[in-house]
Amino acid sequence: MSPQSSAAFVADFRQAAPYIHYLSGKTIVLAVSSHVLLADKLASLAKDIQLLASLGVRLVLVHGTRQYLNQMMRAAGETLSYHRGWRITDEATLQQVKQACGMVRFDIEAALSSSPAQMPDRNQRRLRVASGNFLLAKPLGVMDGIDMGYTGRIRKVDAEAIQQRLNEGCLVLVSPLGQSLSGKSFNLGLDDAAQALAVTLKAEKLVFLASEDGVRSTDGALLSQLTAAEAQALLDNNAHSADMSRMLKAAIYVLENGVRRAHILCGLNDGSLIAELFTRQGSGTALAQSSFMRIRAADNHDIGDIIDLIAPLESAGILLPRNREYLENHIHEFSVLEHDCHVYGCVALKVFEQQHIGELACLVVSPDAQDGGYGELLLDYVLKQAKARGVSTLFALSTNTGDWFDERGFETAELSELPPERQEQYLQNKRRSKIYRRSLV
Ligand SMILES: CC(C)(COP(=O)(O)OP(=O)(O)OC[C@H]1O[C@@H](n2cnc3c(N)ncnc32)[C@H](O)[C@@H]1OP(=O)(O)O)[C@@H](O)C(=O)NCCC(=O)NCCS
Repeated sequence: MSPQSSAAFVADFRQAAPYIHYLSGKTIVLAVSSHVLLADKLASLAKDIQLLASLGVRLVLVHGTRQYLNQMMRAAGETLSYHRGWRITDEATLQQVKQACGMVRFDIEAALSSSPAQMPDRNQRRLRVASGNFLLAKPLGVMDGIDMGYTGRIRKVDAEAIQQRLNEGCLVLVSPLGQSLSGKSFNLGLDDAAQALAVTLKAEKLVFLASEDGVRSTDGALLSQLTAAEAQALLDNNAHSADMSRMLKAAIYVLENGVRRAHILCGLNDGSLIAELFTRQGSGTALAQSSFMRIRAADNHDIGDIIDLIAPLESAGILLPRNREYLENHIHEFSVLEHDCHVYGCVALKVFEQQHIGELACLVVSPDAQDGGYGELLLDYVLKQAKARGVSTLFALSTNTGDWFDERGFETAELSELPPERQEQYLQNKRRSKIYRRSLV
């Protein structure tokens, strides 16, 4: 491996590590469109699914059937009928749906049974697949005077039975067919089944593997991240395909009902699932209920990330050195800015209670995220924190960032304005930092 590709691999691997830890033990519902299954992409997708399972991700896979049905109907010289976007399922269509489900299931089971190439031991237990009567359905009934036949909606998901299979280490494979209490089968929409599974299982993510790259803005740009409100605004614009609108609706629904993330990506591109789940840039569109970014109090788990942020600046003499022991003892003073599991910035607030004085320290934004306003957000956060703790004057000491503070309402101050113990430290470390002050009253 060349030094460049080796460095790139190391960088990618480091980038993936937090996502690997985060997803282990979490449940993901994968909704795989029949476009993907019919396009001969099952073998490569199965490898990525096996990889996820080997990392401890609990997987529920629900598949579509529409393209199979279209093929079967075309061969029989028939077409599917729809009303208000819902498929009308008569007796004959139901038989075709059952056939299609059978075919897809066997294909998926076979693909997932192949020996995973990435496993260290090729004899390692293969991924077990569990299927069953997990979806209880009810008929859609008569809509606008049209009998929707065997088209159904989800009545209940048997979460307990699914969790049991997941606990046993199985991947749960669900077809979009539900059973009614009267013993009949009903044809369900892929998005309907996927959203019900994700919400009932309290999944971490619902991932749509579709035939489109992801969600596009009205001017055609691929959107890598969207909040539920932004997704709703796009839906209101009505500028997307019927499939995309259905996926967006399901994504918004699951986010409003406790699922942390929804993703829409192209299942036709090799590796898109892995890229979406384990890289910062992703491959399609990730959706969250609110902003992907948050600032929160740091804890001991963040120390490694904080060291990564501050170490280069300590070496360059920009920040005062702080070792792990110092960070462990002062972690309660730190806050971190996290964007989708990744720490991009930190800041510390030290409060001198008696004097109602605060010191902002260790404000750092990772070089790959600078100039995006994160510094400003961390400053706002500390200003609020300081006010809430009764601080009337906030100080910041800096050798290189004076102008930045200057432009944000700070003014130059004298050493004598600092609390005595801080003055002593200042004289001891001989850094001759400039002192800035901002009044909070
Ligand atoms: C200072 C720092 C935290 C700002 O973070 P950021 O997320 O890039 O800040 P914002 O996006 O809110 O602001 C960016 C603006 O600040 C400016 N800026 C960045 N560093 C600056 C500096 N040292 N002096 C003056 N201005 C600076 C940028 O040019 C940009 O200006 P523009 O909006 O006119 O283009 C970041 O540059 C950093 O980590 N620097 C190294 C560590 C440091 O010096 N910390 C302060 C010591 S406590």
